[in-house]
Amino acid sequence: MKIGIIGAGNIGGNLTRRLTALGHDVSVANSRGPETLKELAEETGASAVRAEDAAKGAEVVVVTVPLKAVPSLPSGLLDGAAEGVAVIDTGNYYPKERDGRIAAIEDDGLTESRWTEQPLGHPVIKAFNGTYAQDILDRPRPAGDPGRIALPVAGDDAVAKAKVRALIDELGFDTVDAGGIDDSWRQQPDTPVYGLRDGVEGVQKALAQASPDRPESFRG
Ligand SMILES: NC(=O)c1ccc[n+]([C@@H]2O[C@H](COP(=O)([O-])OP(=O)(O)OC[C@H]3O[C@@H](n4cnc5c(N)ncnc54)[C@H](OP(=O)(O)O)[C@@H]3O)[C@@H](O)[C@H]2O)c1
Repeated sequence: MKIGIIGAGNIGGNLTRRLTALGHDVSVANSRGPETLKELAEETGASAVRAEDAAKGAEVVVVTVPLKAVPSLPSGLLDGAAEGVAVIDTGNYYPKERDGRIAAIEDDGLTESRWTEQPLGHPVIKAFNGTYAQDILDRPRPAGDPGRIALPVAGDDAVAKAKVRALIDELGFDTVDAGGIDDSWRQQPDTPVYGLRDGVEGVQKALAQASPDRPESFRG
C-alpha cells in the first residue's frame, strides 16, 4: 500500500520502520526537508519527501506532528491523495508543555481530533495517540497471542476506520472501535486508556470508565 507519513519523530519514525518492513511503499516528511531524513530513508527504504508531496497517491496518510503544528502544514496537503484516503491522526493536546492554550478545545469542547480535522479539511481516524512510540517496535504480537495489546481507534468514516484497523492488525496489535470523533475524548491524554498496555477487554473497560471532565491541572 502507498502510505504517506507527515512527521518523522518518535511515532512517525517508528511507523516508517515497521511499515517499510511489512513491504509498504512509504513516503515520509518532516518540517526541515527531505535532505534531513537521509538516514531514516537509508535505514528503511522509505522515500524522504517534502511535506507537500507526502500524501501524493497515498491510500493511508499519517499525520504525526505536534498538535500546534497542524495549522501550519501546507494547505491542500491531501489534495493529491488516492480517492478514499484514510488519514490517521496520532495527535495529543499538551497545552502547558508544548501546544499552548487552544480555546476551541478548552472552551468550545472540540475533541482534539475534531480540531485537527479543520485545518486538514479532511476527516481523520484517531489511532496510536496513547501508544508509546517504542511499543510500535517492541510490542507487535501475532493475532491470538495472549500478550497482544489493543489500541482504541475512533473515526466517523466506517470504511476508512476498517482500513486503519486492518493496517494496525498487520502491525501486530488488536484494535477496539472507540466510536466517532466526537467520542474520542475517551482516549485523549489523562484518560484510563491513554498509555494502557492491555488487550481488547481491558481497553473496552478503560474507554467506558473515561470521564469527559478534564482535571483543572491539565488545562492551559
Ligand atoms: N512520543 C510518543 O510516544 C507519542 C505517542 C503517541 C502519540 N504521540 C503524539 O503524536 C504526535 C507526534 O509525536 P512525536 O513524539 O512523534 O513528535 P516528535 O518526536 O516531536 O516529532 C514531530 C515531527 O513532526 C515534524 N513536524 C513538525 N512540524 C511540522 C510541519 N509543519 N510540517 C511537517 N512536519 C512537521 C517534525 O519535523 P522537524 O523535526 O523537521 O521539525 C518531527 O519530524 C504528537 O501530537 C504527540 O503528542 C506521541
